[in-house]
Amino acid sequence: MKNYKIAVVPGDGIGKEIVPAGWKVLKAAAQKHKFSLQSDSYPWGAGYYKEHGHFLPDDGLDILKTYDAIYFGAVGDPEVDDTLPAMLYTFKVRTTFKQYVNYRPVKLLPGIPSPLRYKGEKDIDFVVIRENNEGEFVQNGKIIHPESPYGLATDTSVFTRAGIERIAHYSFKLAQTRRKKVTNVTKSNTLINSLAYWDRVIEEVAQQYPDVTYNKMYVDNASASFVLKPEVFDVIVTTNMIGDILSDLGGAIMGSLGLGPSGNINPEKDFPSMFEPIHGSAPDIAGKNIANPIGAIWSGALMLNHLGESAAAQDIFKGIEATTQAGMLTTDLGGSAKTDQIADYVIEHMQAVSV
Ligand code: NAI
Ligand code: MG
Repeated sequence: MKNYKIAVVPGDGIGKEIVPAGWKVLKAAAQKHKFSLQSDSYPWGAGYYKEHGHFLPDDGLDILKTYDAIYFGAVGDPEVDDTLPAMLYTFKVRTTFKQYVNYRPVKLLPGIPSPLRYKGEKDIDFVVIRENNEGEFVQNGKIIHPESPYGLATDTSVFTRAGIERIAHYSFKLAQTRRKKVTNVTKSNTLINSLAYWDRVIEEVAQQYPDVTYNKMYVDNASASFVLKPEVFDVIVTTNMIGDILSDLGGAIMGSLGLGPSGNINPEKDFPSMFEPIHGSAPDIAGKNIANPIGAIWSGALMLNHLGESAAAQDIFKGIEATTQAGMLTTDLGGSAKTDQIADYVIEHMQAVSV
């Protein structure tokens, strides 16, 4: 029997509720498809920082490196400086493990009315590919004399040819398996150095994929298009910060931030990839068993797909669709189902596979 070693990092807030819910679904899928998931759970995050002074121990990354994948919730705690979680955990894992692809599907699920009045399931089905290792989030800057009238702060983006080429190739290859369209969401009309170079390199790569339609759209227009005509998108390739913002908008047009899944992927598989919902630790609803676990469960399906267990991943997705279709919804979607009830319903409704 195939065995996968998974590091489970629930993190903070609702991470501690949605990750166990998702893990339960993953275990059920594994049992049904006859592979095994072996896990160790690590209590790392902002809560851990309050006690230990770091988000993960010094050998944390060495520990994580030994796993086939990482199943993650979210980090962040209202009592901890919020400039720390990304720097000390999320970005650290994403960059050290060269998880340069952030794969974020946006798809309207059955039974959930989109807040977009005129749009349905056939209109909202695309993937945001967010560059995950460079760009605006390299945290390359300084705050100088913050208290003085001459206070000054900088954050300088970094874009490299190699970094742009690899995310572009990933996006065009993905489009070849979908509706064969790539939209580069950019802002090169104002960021005339960094994003003009981004566009240029992406356009060079586009030429190598003549079967894929390529277009460029500025992010201000793209935001409006998410709302007014989401059907124009198939694969979006974009920068770290633009992708971060647009994928929350993607979650919103699906009906809730709690639905969006993501994979921080190292396509070469030199290092483990990390799977997490797109949302944060939602301290406002933590500890009540009301968080929507679908983003976490769907992220688990992305993880199984990455590990090569696509039939099990598909089953989980079918279970998610059956759940929303039946109106089993958490409060963020106007329902009253609890976090653990959603997980149980997904498990009961994963389609039987023919063996
Ligand atoms: P958030 O995504 O945690 O919450 C935004 C809103 O969406 C809240 O009203 C929350 O209740 C709701 N929401 C989010 N997930 C939900 C779910 N599964 N079910 C139902 N409702 C849900 O974003 P916010 O409030 O900006 O950040 C809270 C903390 O999370 C901060 O410390 C932030 O730094 C951290 N964060 C961590 C991330 C990560 O670890 N990758 C990503 C984003 C934020
Ligand atoms: Mg985000």
